[in-house]
Amino acid sequence: MNLLVLHGPNLNLLGVREPGIYGCATLESINSSLHDLARELGCTLSTFQSNHEGVLVDAIQSAAGSADGILINPAAYTHTSVAIRDALSAISLPTVEVHLSNIHRREEFRRHSYIAPVAAGQISGFGADSYLLGLRALFTLVIKRLSEEPGCGT
Ligand code: DQA
Repeated sequence: MNLLVLHGPNLNLLGVREPGIYGCATLESINSSLHDLARELGCTLSTFQSNHEGVLVDAIQSAAGSADGILINPAAYTHTSVAIRDALSAISLPTVEVHLSNIHRREEFRRHSYIAPVAAGQISGFGADSYLLGLRALFTLVIKRLSEEPGCGT
């Protein structure tokens, strides 16, 4: 199983960016914890960060041929990007949306996610642990998807 982790804009600044909201973990340390967990679960992981919407769309389109599932923190694009939502919808790989902060406890504009309707679920508010919880959720989802047989229960 090969999973893709996508990080959106400004997440390269984690560790120095508003630590009271996003915590002290750097993107590098989050990726490293994700790699450790992936090893434990027995899957391979690629991680990618971009500050550019189109680059994230390209990465999602490329995942269609190379990944079994996507873990994504779309960051600010969560609240604005129809393009990222459409890309995820187009490739229809199992997707889990994660956020470090609880977007539902913050400003009104953060409460709406364009991504949530095309994701299997959303994990929000657990700091860096959101990613680890999200990876476990995605792993389980992909296992189920891979072993799914048509005509459940028949
Ligand atoms: C975020 C929440 C977004 O509202 C914000 O724009 C981010 C980070 C989070 O992980 O908490 O950049 O996705």
